[in-house]
Order: sequence, then structure tokens, then C-alpha cells
Amino acid sequence: MQKLEVFGAKKLKGQINISGSKNASLPILAATLLSKNQITLRNLPKVKDIETMMNLLDSLGSNIKKAKDKIIINNSYQKKTFASYNLVKTMRAGILVLGPLLAKFGNAKVSLPGGCAIGTRPVDIHLDALSKLGVKYKIIQGYVHATAPKGLIGNKIRFSKISVGATENLIIAASFAKGSTYLSNIAIEAEIKDLINFLKSMGCNIKWTGKRSVKIEGVSEVEDITYPVMFDRIEAGTYLIAAAVTEGNLKIKNIIPKIIQTEINILKKIGAKINIKKDEVHIVGNKKIKSINIKTAPYPGFPTDLQAQMMVLLCKANKQSVIKEDIFENRFMHVAELNRMGAQILIKGNKAIVQGNINFAPAELMATDLRASVSLVLAALTAKGKSVINRIYHLDRGYENIEKKLKRVGAKIRRVN
Ligand code: EPZ
Repeated sequence: MQKLEVFGAKKLKGQINISGSKNASLPILAATLLSKNQITLRNLPKVKDIETMMNLLDSLGSNIKKAKDKIIINNSYQKKTFASYNLVKTMRAGILVLGPLLAKFGNAKVSLPGGCAIGTRPVDIHLDALSKLGVKYKIIQGYVHATAPKGLIGNKIRFSKISVGATENLIIAASFAKGSTYLSNIAIEAEIKDLINFLKSMGCNIKWTGKRSVKIEGVSEVEDITYPVMFDRIEAGTYLIAAAVTEGNLKIKNIIPKIIQTEINILKKIGAKINIKKDEVHIVGNKKIKSINIKTAPYPGFPTDLQAQMMVLLCKANKQSVIKEDIFENRFMHVAELNRMGAQILIKGNKAIVQGNINFAPAELMATDLRASVSLVLAALTAKGKSVINRIYHLDRGYENIEKKLKRVGAKIRRVN
């Protein structure tokens, strides 16, 4: 298995170009199943999860051509409605093909995603909401067997809890339901807005009716289009934190700063110097990092996907900070590894009490999930000496060319087998 060797301590200096969003690309790739013809997507990040989703579409009969800067999906012969466990188990977003398959064929057999390091990842909210569109389903041996005997019928649905994936599944399914669907208490992450823009550019009829509500008029087919997915705001946030934690000086390019305003405000509050331009953020880290208490929340709150990275930064703050993880039940897997590097973090339920004034020491480390693994890279960049990070397949799921991008701004980092 490959690992990363990181030689710290290094101050990062230079420019990092942000790739396309993994979490916008996954629902948009699933939504291409609505097409009976050809859809072209640009700016997809070259990361493992996107490859897995393309393999899943391929297994359903989509014909995928990869060109240099785009992929062309042709669904003229796409007829299958079975999404197998061996593809869905490594990437929980596989459940997102359920909505489009039901919308297009009125039936689907999709593997339940199963749990992962950060939580059990249930899909009850997806299934409850789909049943309100007329879907009947049974769970048999780890698969959802779903049918819509009379096709999908529009309805009024209020989500009991804000769920990114359930919102995405329902917006896609309702796009082909008969009549009107009103969704409320939906997630409003930037990736969901990108999905809605994608669906509307294919000819779907979706209108915002409130901060967290949309009205969807079902259509019966979609047009061929080319669509560029948005930038990856979590990758951008990760590199902003990398600049702050290494007292570096980075220009983060190809982004829309207002989409990461929450993160920018927090980094300014703890002492980073930040300048914003149209499609870039320039950040200069500060030797003195002020402590701050953080709680993760649905957008526009502080993203759970940056919690581990922010924890590394707060280990270097002038005082203790408290981080509350309110989204996932087990998203502190990075704490044990950071403590092995000299951090003093105490977990109390869904709170992490983070002591400040820590200097990380290099160590041999184990990645456990995507965002935990990148937090170990950030800590290793500030540790004087050589750290080794194992199981970096977690990292490759969501960060495109991470060692190349870091090397280009002065990091001493290399991948070894
Ligand atoms: C999406 O996961 C993201 N993944 C996650 O990013 C992100 O952390 C999460 O949203 C929250 O922002 C993708 O977009 C591919 P949820 P998702 O449904 O859709 C519970 C990364 O690192 N829940 O908003 O699975 C769930 O267990 C990944 O890129 C139910 O109980 O998140 C969690 O506690 C990690 N029942 C909470 O809701 C359900 O049916 C939020 O989950 C669905 C979710």
C-alpha cells in the first residue's frame, strides 16, 4: 500500500489552483442518468471517488468517453437498474443513483452504502422521502429493491433532518415526477445549488421558493448539454488552513470566495491576513493564532468536512479551543493520531477540547478517512522531521494531485510504495 513521506517544517509559499468539486460532481454524475442521450461534463476532479462513480454508471450501461478536460456520457443504451455492493461499498454516494433510476425506469435495485469510519451513514431520510413520491421499497440482503408502480407522483415533502444526499436524491427524482413537488427543510450546500443549475440547464423545472425550499415541476426528458462543475470548496478550505498552520503565504485560485465566506471569516478571526479577489483568495499565516470555539453545521455553517483540518490549526492557537461535531457521530478518528504527534486533545462526547501552543513532532501515522488523512498531512508539514502517513488511498478519494500541489508551494513530500 502506498504511503506519503512528509518532511517538515515548511512554510508554504506560492499559488494553488483548486480542482473541480468532488461533492458536486458525484450527484451531477448520478443525475446524468436522467438523459437518454449525451451529456458532457467539464472540470471533474481526477480523484478515486469520481472514478468509482463513473465505473458505477458504466456498470449501469452508460458509455463514458474520457477526453483531456471533459468526459462525455452517452446513455443511448443505458438500461440497467442494478447498482452492486462492490461499487457502492467504497463510495457511499453510490446511493445517489437510486433517485434517477427510479425517475427514468420506475424501478431500481441499489446496494445500501454501509457504514464508514465517520459514521453508520443511514439512508432512511432518502427512502422515507422517496416513498412520498409513490416509491415502494424493501431492503433485502443489503439492497434497496425499489419500484414506482404508477411512476413518481409529485408531493409536498418536508425533510425531518437536513441531509445533503437525501436532498440531492429527491431533487433528481422529483425532476421527472408527474406534477409538482415541494421540498422543504432541504440542505443548501453550494454543491446542491450546482446540481440544481445542472438540472435546469438540462431543461428541468426547479424554482427556489425560500431559503431551504424548492418547487419542482416534473418533465419527461432532458436535453444534451455541456456543463462545468463548480470548484471544490473543501479543497480550497484545506489549503487556506495549510497556509495558516504553516505561517505560509498562498494564493488560492479558481474559486468563488463568497461561497467560503464562513471559513474566510473564521481564519481572519484567528489572525490570518486575507485578501479577496474575483476568483482567488490570498492568505498570509500569522505566527500568533488566536483560539476559537467551532461547531460544525449544515451550510452556511462551518463545514464538518473541514473540522479535522481546523483542529490541527487550533492545536497551534494561543489558548484552548473547543470543537463540537454536530453532523457525524464518529468524526474524531484523527484525534488519536494527532495526539501521537504531541497534540493534547480530549474527546468528551461530540466535543473535542483542543489544547493550544502545541508543536507537532513527526511520527508514523495511519489515515482513517478522507478528511482525517489530510489533517495528518497538515500536522506533518509543521513537524520538524520526517512523518510517514499510511493508507493514503483515503486521501486519493478526494484530493487531486495533493503532493504535486503541495510540492509546487515548497512542501517536501513524496509518495512511496
Ligand atoms: C455529504 O454526505 C458529503 N458527501 C459529506 O462529505 C459531508 O460531510 C456531508 O454531506 C455533510 O455535509 C458527499 O456530498 C458525497 P448528510 P451525506 O446526508 O449526504 C445523517 C467528504 O468528506 N443521515 O447531510 O452522506 C448522517 O448520518 C464527505 O467529502 C441520516 O440519519 O451527508 C449524518 O449524521 C464525508 N439519514 C447527517 O445526517 C439519512 O438518510 C448528515 O448527513 C441521511 C443522512
